Amino acid sequence: MSEPPYSPGLAGVIAGETTIGCVDQGKLLYRGYTIQDLAETVCFEEVAHLLLFESLPNAGELETVKQSLANYRPLPVPLISALRAIPNDVPMMDVLRSMVSFTSHFDPIEGHDEAANRQRALWLTAQIGGIIAARYRLLNGQEPLSPKDGLSHAAQILYQCHGEIPDALSEELIDLSLVLYAEHDFNASTFTGRVICSTLSDIVSGVTGAIGALKGPLHGGANEAAMEMLARFKSAEEASSWITQALANKEKVMGFGHRVYKQGDHRAVILEEKLRKLAAQKGEETWMAIYDAIKKPMTEEKKIYPNVDYPCGLTYFLLGLPLDLYTPLFVASRVTGWSAHILEQARNNRIYRPLSIYKGPKARPVPPISER
Ligand code: CMC
Repeated sequence: MSEPPYSPGLAGVIAGETTIGCVDQGKLLYRGYTIQDLAETVCFEEVAHLLLFESLPNAGELETVKQSLANYRPLPVPLISALRAIPNDVPMMDVLRSMVSFTSHFDPIEGHDEAANRQRALWLTAQIGGIIAARYRLLNGQEPLSPKDGLSHAAQILYQCHGEIPDALSEELIDLSLVLYAEHDFNASTFTGRVICSTLSDIVSGVTGAIGALKGPLHGGANEAAMEMLARFKSAEEASSWITQALANKEKVMGFGHRVYKQGDHRAVILEEKLRKLAAQKGEETWMAIYDAIKKPMTEEKKIYPNVDYPCGLTYFLLGLPLDLYTPLFVASRVTGWSAHILEQARNNRIYRPLSIYKGPKARPVPPISER
């Protein structure tokens, strides 16, 4: 009997059907809208509505989403106490994973039908922004801040971190990154969430598991890893000689490559355009020269293109955000995509249970302990 087909990393394997997002001929679509159009015209809250409620909101619906987020933002008091108990050297992604699970013990939503889970997704979105900011402030020896009425989700996260209403450019760029990060089809973290919930487990468990999957540097952790790499260099020359050596040693360069995009990630192109303007405005041309010194041989010689995490790392850095916040900000956005997938999985569920090719010993007797 021939062995069933096997594809390492499930490359090329179709693992489900979705109406939420896809990469169509190299273009990322959220429910049929191109990421380019969305990036130019809508804010994160509109994307959250699109993903969770399946349509772009009208003005009234957008107001309702904003109001729900505002209502769901305050963190439970015991959660702040738990945050205080976590040692300072615990990475923010680990804190976020634990605290998302913790906050579920104070879940204000009743029921587990689709409508309740949509609200639960908004509640998780609101809580995650607050958890990131509260941890950030505690690490800086400051008390967590209550949310401020009337701010966008992007501005709210920055406000609750820094205690100041952010400037328009910072708000615009964080909002853009949230729009770009919100959804990406059956990627590793989304698939993790779907697998967890395919057992009829709950949405918080799915999101908690997805955070664990996103944290790795081959996935969402790449925005931090890419910036860590850039920060090693003081000049474009230093970056050039490093990348020549790295390519010769066949090293992985963080922020480049993608399983689905082989001709480049459109999200990276959109964000890079804004990054160049930001760097020029801040007089940070050296950083762009370092950025380009790595990018040039990767794209021209290796034909491996930047993914969204490459420009995102430097964008967050030039906005003055600490490294530890980069992947959590990815979570702050992707929680909407994960939740949409978990809702979709529940509608037409079949438990995920793939096969493996067994390469271990054939059936054999258990030897008595004296003979082992
Ligand atoms: N640097 C150097 N070589 C690379 C890179 C890279 N970043 N990415 C792929 N390659 C090479 C790889 O070594 C392999 O070469 P060869 O055929 O000679 O062995 C070839 O390109 C195919 O790569 P692969 O690892 O089989 O590709 P994959 O589809 O399994 O992995 C990936 C995709 C994103 C994990 C990988 O490109 C990678 O590790 N990139 C760096 C981490 C990163 O930036 N991740 C963010 C992904 S996008 C946004 C997100 O999810 O956060």
